[in-house]
Amino acid sequence: MEKPLHIAIVGFGAAAQAFMPAIKANPSFQLVAVVEPHPAVQKNALPLGVPVFQDISDLKSVPQLDGVYLATPTPLHAQQAIACLEKGWHVLVEKPMACNVSEGIAMVEASRKCNKHLTVGHSHSFDAPIQAMKQIIERGEIGTVAMVNNWCFTDWVYRPRRLEELDSKLGGGVLFRQGAHQIDILRALCHSHVKTVKAKLFNADPKRDTVGAHAIYLDFENGAAATAIYNGYGGISSMELTQNISEWGYEQRPDSRQWYTAHQVPQSAEQELAAKQKRAVSAIPSTAPYQPHFGLTVVSGSQGDIRQTPQGLMVCNASGNTEIHLPTHQSPRDLVLAELEQTWRGKGSHWHSGRWGLENLRICEAAIESAACGREVLLSN
Ligand SMILES: NC(=O)c1ccc[n+]([C@@H]2O[C@H](COP(=O)([O-])OP(=O)(O)OC[C@H]3O[C@@H](n4cnc5c(N)ncnc54)[C@H](O)[C@@H]3O)[C@@H](O)[C@H]2O)c1
Repeated sequence: MEKPLHIAIVGFGAAAQAFMPAIKANPSFQLVAVVEPHPAVQKNALPLGVPVFQDISDLKSVPQLDGVYLATPTPLHAQQAIACLEKGWHVLVEKPMACNVSEGIAMVEASRKCNKHLTVGHSHSFDAPIQAMKQIIERGEIGTVAMVNNWCFTDWVYRPRRLEELDSKLGGGVLFRQGAHQIDILRALCHSHVKTVKAKLFNADPKRDTVGAHAIYLDFENGAAATAIYNGYGGISSMELTQNISEWGYEQRPDSRQWYTAHQVPQSAEQELAAKQKRAVSAIPSTAPYQPHFGLTVVSGSQGDIRQTPQGLMVCNASGNTEIHLPTHQSPRDLVLAELEQTWRGKGSHWHSGRWGLENLRICEAAIESAACGREVLLSN
């Protein structure tokens, strides 16, 4: 067996804690350090038995570091990713990869110059159902893809947050934070370059100043069309459209859902941060009995359709309606590590590269421009 890849985690909040079970279970990776400046959060990392540093610059004392996983607030991604690449480490950066396209370009350029890999994830195109849909499309089982539609209805706006998570200029709001997943899924399934973007963005609650909902229409060069609909204002839940299955593959009937509303937003930023840190420990479970559902995704081809089911997919084509059960033994983050291992060892394709993530950012910026001018925006590739 090849020697394990040494990885350090930078920022030990919700995203990083969700990754820990996958890293611990994967013999190809060995966690060697954590960087986390907040004392209340550091204590969650101490039981891991690796050094817990205060600052990313402390990582220079770690011998033989192959790469870092950046799970810090989005405004830190560009500067930290570039610094790590320049130190000679590969980088896995959380989505959205940066606050804007120019930061994304600088990151991709640093990866190229330093000859180190930049990967963006976790995003929901890593999920088993989306990967299986992609394979069914590639095998031609529903003909040519005509439309892919993704609908999400959540309480995103009212979950506990740091202030910058609501600011679009800092990579916040549902367009950057959640649209990053939707656009990722739509691009994976339409399998072409986006030609034009038309969008409307909604900032509906003056007490929670953010882009909390959007409707985005993407026109692809191969003729496919796609929509990303997101409403994060805590009304209807997408789980009502997905047989009560949650984003992370749990059954959550209406009476068992933790659902944030405008009335529950904490009074002060400190209280809100404390609530976020408490929620981070268990917000994203590592195993699930059903498949993850990032809202409802429906693919329509010239010869059939595909939608998700709790256990997998329903394919409707000339052969009839066929339900395909997918395995649940690998979580979305196990699948990120599978791609990461191949990438860092220089084997296999690097789907979720910095360039891939940059294209998602370009589409988010085009959506902002389209919403501002009220017209379709042409993307130049
Ligand atoms: N892929 C997913 O499903 C998913 C889920 C949640 C968040 N995210 C992404 O992960 C990133 C972090 O979000 P989060 O919700 O985990 O935030 P968070 O606030 O829970 O975690 C961020 C952590 O980084 C720490 N930090 C702050 N400054 C730092 C620094 N200079 N060096 C090291 N650590 C520092 C904070 O103290 C905090 O503990 C964001 O980009 C977000 O979009 C992705």
